[in-house]
Amino acid sequence: MKKLIIIALAAIGIAACSNQPKVMENETIHNIMTRVSVRNFTGEKISEAQLDTLLRAAMAAPSAINKQPWAFIVVTDETKIAALGEALPFSRCSNHPAVAIIPCGDLSKAIPGEMGAFWINDVSAATENLLLAAHAMGLGAVWTGLHPDMNRAKMVQDMLGLPEHIIPLCIVPVGVPAEQPEIKDKFVPENIHYNAW
Ligand SMILES: Cc1cc2nc3c(=O)[nH]c(=O)nc-3n(C[C@H](O)[C@H](O)[C@H](O)COP(=O)(O)O)c2cc1C
Repeated sequence: MKKLIIIALAAIGIAACSNQPKVMENETIHNIMTRVSVRNFTGEKISEAQLDTLLRAAMAAPSAINKQPWAFIVVTDETKIAALGEALPFSRCSNHPAVAIIPCGDLSKAIPGEMGAFWINDVSAATENLLLAAHAMGLGAVWTGLHPDMNRAKMVQDMLGLPEHIIPLCIVPVGVPAEQPEIKDKFVPENIHYNAW
């Protein structure tokens, strides 16, 4: 009986070990793995250097044929942030962010023709960079979607006076976190297919 228990415990130990993550640990990987959406903020301001870093990180993103077909609307005016929150409650702009950044596609810089829609990928990459940079600086942020919901995008275009060729992809409220949401483990090995489906 004692032998059986020892064998069972050893088997459990081996199974647990084989499930151990094989993640290469460094600061950048840790930052990616621990980012979460933050939707509540303290209302504290962020510094000019922090804002500049966020925008530089966003513009460091890759883009198809390096077109960089983007523009970033930075809303610091408290009245305008509150108006965005009221009109678009899903945007979390009523929850006291320091700033709302709106990554947009600039269609005048996009690839001409059918490939033009690559702007969505490009601005998405910029947005993820922005989220990761915010997290790396101890700030909180959340991607809140506009495009392809035409009603949402149009509302923001009208509120902020965007020309027709500037399409807002999302609103990213950024600020000092007033909450620490739990990190989600989203790793699903079944999502991976080697060499073919
Ligand atoms: C395209 C897109 C649209 C999203 N829209 C919203 C939104 O309108 N409001 C919101 O609170 N979060 C929004 N989110 C954030 C997601 O809910 C969040 O990323 C998801 O629940 C996973 O949580 P995590 O970011 O903490 O890992 C959006 C995320 C993406 C990528």
